Formats: sequence, structure tokens, C-alpha cells
Amino acid sequence: MRTKIKSILQAKNPQSLVGKPTTVCGWVRTLRDQKSFAFIEVNDGSTLANLQVVADASLPNYAELMQQLATGASLSVTGHLVESPGKNQALELKAEQITVYGSADPARYPLQKKRHSFEFLRTIAHLRPRTNTQGAVTRVRSALSYATHLFFQQRGFLYIQTPLITGSDCEGGGEMFRVTTLEKGGDYSKDFFGKPTYLTVSGQLEAEIYACALSDVYTFSPTFRAENSNTSRHLAEFWMIEPEMAFADLKDNMECAESYLKFCVRYALDHCREDLEFFDKFIENGLIQRLEHVASTPFVHLTYTDAVDILRKAPKKFEFPVDWGTDLQSEHERYLAEEYCKKPVILTDYPAQIKAFYMRGNPDGKTVAAMDVLVPKIGEIIGGSQREERLDRLEHKLAEHKLNREDYWWYLELREYGTVPHAGFGLGLERLVLFVTGMENIRDVIAFPRYPGHADF
Ligand code: 4AD
Ligand code: MG
Repeated sequence: MRTKIKSILQAKNPQSLVGKPTTVCGWVRTLRDQKSFAFIEVNDGSTLANLQVVADASLPNYAELMQQLATGASLSVTGHLVESPGKNQALELKAEQITVYGSADPARYPLQKKRHSFEFLRTIAHLRPRTNTQGAVTRVRSALSYATHLFFQQRGFLYIQTPLITGSDCEGGGEMFRVTTLEKGGDYSKDFFGKPTYLTVSGQLEAEIYACALSDVYTFSPTFRAENSNTSRHLAEFWMIEPEMAFADLKDNMECAESYLKFCVRYALDHCREDLEFFDKFIENGLIQRLEHVASTPFVHLTYTDAVDILRKAPKKFEFPVDWGTDLQSEHERYLAEEYCKKPVILTDYPAQIKAFYMRGNPDGKTVAAMDVLVPKIGEIIGGSQREERLDRLEHKLAEHKLNREDYWWYLELREYGTVPHAGFGLGLERLVLFVTGMENIRDVIAFPRYPGHADF
């Protein structure tokens, strides 16, 4: 039985493991050959730190091992855990048997000990999970995914799966990838589905169907957007978590979004300490303090109109001018969260003309019950709204947005039969991972990033 290195290095009582027969498997991070013995640093991905293996020259295959073992080689070690005389670790593994699965030629293996740029590592996305940074990102991403399910399941939300292939453009932005089996396009009635189809930009409309039957649901799905934005915050394929709640208004929605974000941050602080300390040291100084602050203080609430006022009075020159009725740019969002509020802020009640057709109209006739959660470093991390549940208003909105009533017949029927006030939001998982790790580029927090010109691996 193989033991995970994490359970050795993070044991509550390392003393109790001394003398225990143990087998670990992993990849060599470094090898120090001291002639009569060697130190082998082994990592198996379960934790950031390496386990120190001591291989004595008395091992029968010692000479051969020193030939085969180098950074990147894979191996299995069986031996006994002993107290380590070194000051970097409590325990080390004294090897009695070492099996090499595969060597890695030092003249060719790209991940030698020196630090590599994240740009270079993207070109070797098949090997970069073996780096400290990618290992830590992957563990934090996994923990945040788990925390997401925990949070919604504890609140009684049902996890539902919505289709990836769809005929409707939920966000109305037209930034969709077409799905077709036709070689040359043309007559889509002859296409696989007998009509034009796309990769989904959001599972929201289908999630609404389920919320309007089962009250509280959430999706956790890949999402696709053909927006040609070459930024450090956009991907063409990303993962989105979309809760949808029936019998809920914008206030309930804001409460849920704030609690969810705080829950995730707290979960990472409690369960990913070693990785967060690594990010704090090498990626963003002060990260842990920033996260503690987010987890423990209430978010600011501002209306879009107030935010525009603040931005117009800001002692700062923006690249894009701000006027009531224009969409906020990332520089504006970051100014509000980072400099003005110095913490997450929920902006509400945006002008109807810059938001999607499904958002509920406010009594002023100009704004909608929308909310965006903006956080320092990232800008928008969550977008959501209360939905228009009144049939006549929704019909008007579809017409205003020049959308075909017939395409949304089922969406309209939800309002015709037993309509209820309901609300929901979407959080981009990669933006959450950026926020929690302090990483700068969204391409470094998803295993195989898709963006204009790039769909490798
Ligand atoms: O604000 P968005 O477009 O909202 C929706 O899609 C709604 N249907 C959600 C809902 O109410 N159920 O996207 C939601 C979030 C954004 O706040 C952002 O975090 C992320 O999804 N996002 C992206 N992440 C990476 N790359 C992109 N191109 C993204 N576009 C949106
Ligand atoms: Mg948005």
C-alpha cells in the first residue's frame, strides 16, 4: 500500500510514525549524491513539500539507481520512517528498496531546478503540473470546487446538469461557438440537430426551469465564449457555478453570493494553508491577510448610479470615460474595489440597456435588479440578477432586445404557469482561483487554457 506524502509531512503527531514501514511513490524533485549515500527529494502532488528519502550505498542496486535517478524520474520507495537530523523536516524515509519506473534524461527534461516563466510553462502544459506553483494552484482549485458543493448542498440546493449544446444565446452577446457537422455551413435544417446550435455561454435559462420546480438549484459546468478578448481575465472555455433560487429577490441573491464567496475563502484558509503560504511568499505578499479580511468583513453595497458618481469624482485618470448608461470597464471595477472600498463591493441596479433581457425591471423604468460582485485584483467575479417573472414585461423585453418570441416559448411559459420571483448569479471558477491564489493570469489557473489562437493539449 502506497502512503500519500501529505499524510506523513502533515501528520499531527510525527513521532508516532517513527519506525513505521512505509511505501511512497512519486517523482524526484532533486537528487544529492553524497557518494556513500544520497538524498532524494520526492513529491507525489499530495502536498507542496517533498519527502526526503535517504538512500544508502548499501542498497544492492545503488550504483544503478544513481545512474537512473535525476529530476523528473518516477520511483517507488519502501523503507522505515525515521526522525530526521536535518532541521527542515521532522521525518525522513530510510530506503530499503527503491524501484525506478521511469528515468528522465537531465539533458532533455525541461523542468530543471531553475525557475521558469509562466509563459514558458504554458507551452509545456503536459509537464507544468509538476511545478510547485501549478501543484498548489491545482490543489486550491480542487478545494474551491469541493467547497462550492459543500456550500450549496448544506443550504439544500440541488446540483443539476444543464446542456452544453444549446440553441439559445442566454447573455444575448452573440459570442457563441457554433456546433455543426456541416463541412461548409449553409442550410442548418440539414445539420445534425436540424437547426443552428452553439456551445452554451451559460446554463442559467435551464437552471431557471429547475428553480421554478424545485426551488433551489445550482450548476457547475464548462462555459464557452467566443469573445475575442486577449486579457488576463478572459478565457474562451471556463467553468461557471450558477445557483438559481425561487421565491428570492435581489437581496436574497446578494446574501447568497456574499456568503458563498466568504465560505470559499474561509475554506481555502482552513484547508490549503501550506499552499496559501507559498503564494503569499512567492506570488502576492500579504495574500493571507487580504483573504482574512475578505472572509471577516461585510461587503460594501453601492448602486451603479452611486458608483458612476464616485468614478466621475475619482482623483484618477481612466482610459475609458465614465457616463451613466455605459458599461463599466475593468479599470473602473478595480478602482471601486481596490482603491475606493478596499474590499469586495456589490454593485446593483444597472441601466437596463447594458444588461441581458432576463433581468427584472425596477420601478424607475430605467434600471434593472442586477448585481455584480467586484473584488480587489480581479474586478467582476460574480454577475447576477433577479429575473423578470412578469409575463407581459418579459415579452416587452424580448421585443426590445430583438429576440424571437418563438425561440423563448418555454421560458415564457414558466411565467405563464405558476410564476415566482426568482434570482441567481454566476461565478467564474477561474476568477475565484485567481482571487484566492493571487495569481495574475487566468491562463495559469486552468489546466489547459483556451483563448484566441490557443487550443493545445
Ligand atoms: O456576468 P456573466 O456573463 O453572467 C452570466 O453568464 C449569467 N448567466 C450568470 C447568472 O446570473 N446565472 O458571467 C458570470 C461570471 C462573471 O462574473 C465572471 O466571473 C465569469 O462568469 N466569466 C468569465 N470567466 C472567464 N472568462 C470569461 N470569458 C468569462 N466571462 C464571464
Ligand atoms: Mg457580467
